[in-house]
Amino acid sequence: MNGNQLLQNKTIIVTGAATGIGQAFSVACASYGAKIIVADMNSGVETVELIESKGGEAKFVEVDVANEDSASFMAKSAFDWSGRVDGLINNAAYFREVKLTPFEEIKIEVWDKIFDVNVKGIWQCSKAVIPYMRKNKGGSIINISSVVAVAGQPGYLHYVATKGAVLAMTKGLAKECGKDCVRVNTIAPGFVITDATKNRPLEWQQTFLKARAISREQRPEDLVGTAVYLLSDLSNFVSGQTHVVDGGHIMY
Ligand SMILES: NC(=O)c1ccc[n+]([C@@H]2O[C@H](COP(=O)([O-])OP(=O)(O)OC[C@H]3O[C@@H](n4cnc5c(N)ncnc54)[C@H](O)[C@@H]3O)[C@@H](O)[C@H]2O)c1
Repeated sequence: MNGNQLLQNKTIIVTGAATGIGQAFSVACASYGAKIIVADMNSGVETVELIESKGGEAKFVEVDVANEDSASFMAKSAFDWSGRVDGLINNAAYFREVKLTPFEEIKIEVWDKIFDVNVKGIWQCSKAVIPYMRKNKGGSIINISSVVAVAGQPGYLHYVATKGAVLAMTKGLAKECGKDCVRVNTIAPGFVITDATKNRPLEWQQTFLKARAISREQRPEDLVGTAVYLLSDLSNFVSGQTHVVDGGHIMY
């Protein structure tokens, strides 16, 4: 097999794939041979067109990851389209709307909304997809957390708490699904320049940049190599792990 066939014959669902990091994951996985379900609550047509313009295969499915029926429809659509589901990147999140707020002032509705999408959404999508992975006798799930789950971040308690839950859910699900050869891992990005973050305060961006061993801006493309590795058979004995991809900010 040559390198650019690493994901050949695999069907991968990417949630939150209409834009930003999810779009970069989708385009990269397609370039390694995977068929991609571009799953998002907003139109994913741009991502599908990007993939098709490079000769890849993709289909948009509208989903609300926090809704059980919608997540089931997404998984079934993927299976009906390609006859299999091998990978899932749980990337969708209530993120760009999150405002820096002192912890005493976070509104209960906002707390509940962010947990609904960022935590329940991963549960629902994984629950919907794993039965199809069992049919193939295996699969790979990547949950997207954040460096803030490891490092903390003032003014972001609700978001930090959801991303910490993602780390724990990865471990719990990995232990429970290992018998089905379903591997579950986390990628925790650093501060990445996307449409969601480009208007965050400059001094905040600078703090992240200065803390890195590799002191430059992080782009969505910096994350894709780790995702392709985790979705491919190269990582077939790797499960339950947190992969921090942040230019060497956090070091274990
Ligand atoms: N950009 C960063 O600095 C950064 C850092 C660490 C982690 N992350 C994480 O990376 C992921 C992507 O971030 P991004 O910067 O590309 O953000 P983004 O806002 O550009 O992308 C999020 C996508 O999720 C979709 N989405 C939101 N709620 C949804 C729902 N209920 N159902 C379906 N789709 C939904 C949105 O439509 C959007 O396309 C998120 O999980 C985020 O928490 C981002």
